[in-house]
Amino acid sequence: MLVQDTSKLKEDILRLKKEKDVVLLAHNYQVPEIQDIADFTGDSLGLSRQAAKVDQKTILFCGVHFMAETAAIISPQKKVLIPELEAGCSLSDSITLDELKNWKKQHPGAIAVGYVNTTAEIKSELDYCCTSSNAVNVVKAIPANKKILFLPDMFLGSYVAKVTGRKNMHIWAGECHVHAGITPEDVTKKLDSMKEAEFVIHPECSCTTPMLYDLASGSFDDRKVSILSTEGMLNHVRDSKAKNFVVATETGILYRMKKNNPEKFFVPASEKAECQYMKMNTLEKVYDSLVENKYEVKIPKEIADRARLAINRMLAIS
Ligand code: 13P
Ligand code: SF4
Repeated sequence: MLVQDTSKLKEDILRLKKEKDVVLLAHNYQVPEIQDIADFTGDSLGLSRQAAKVDQKTILFCGVHFMAETAAIISPQKKVLIPELEAGCSLSDSITLDELKNWKKQHPGAIAVGYVNTTAEIKSELDYCCTSSNAVNVVKAIPANKKILFLPDMFLGSYVAKVTGRKNMHIWAGECHVHAGITPEDVTKKLDSMKEAEFVIHPECSCTTPMLYDLASGSFDDRKVSILSTEGMLNHVRDSKAKNFVVATETGILYRMKKNNPEKFFVPASEKAECQYMKMNTLEKVYDSLVENKYEVKIPKEIADRARLAINRMLAIS
């Protein structure tokens, strides 16, 4: 489409959305102009729940591919569109179906718990799904004598193992390049420059590992620290009495934090923490998606049916 004035484009999208009875869901890392026109903005778990709840028969999912797949699995009777098919995820790419099948074969009887950042095919091989906001509760719900295979994020996995005290948990060595790129040095520099700030951190961050012992007890060098999902972070900064925050996750979240809390001050742990997949979605692509009904996310029924079991088990726990 031709590049046109942003406010006109937003108006057109809002009109088309209404005419075609489409609900627009946006992840917390989406560009500000998409967050502004979304019906709901949230984290992976919150958006999956919204997808199942909304009345509209078409969901336009502005996030990355695995998130739209999760929405399609939960709501098989709805049409799920994604504006950009190439919007993938390095974390979800860090385990293949064959690798998972082999891993399961090496540990017969183990319970496979997979982060929501996985493909539908991987989910179809899981016993439980989990997100950053409920991984601890999902692992706690599994009998203590059962061996667990946790995948694919090693930082989230080590955090969960530490918090639950679980010794029989095998952790896949996958990572998200954005969160793994936020180094302990980045964090130390920012924290040193903001002595009074609270520290909020996403469990996919590699900087959680060297700090884990302190973090699990809720503080680091006497500073208040919270490990949270993106929506958990937004709720936390809203409710906290603190005025200043260092935020360790993808920088897109700062838009909503600042908008919702104009009297508070937020700095990213690393300015470089930007997910190029999340940023592939643009207003122009959202418009095209609405006009041309593209790109529909379709999952073979037998895969969706099996994946749904793992997702529903997670939803029942959290
Ligand atoms: P949340 O579920 O916390 O929003 O995280 C999703 C994600 O992709 C983090 O990189
Ligand atoms: Fe995937 Fe990382 Fe991007 Fe989240 S930030 S979508 S985990 S690549």
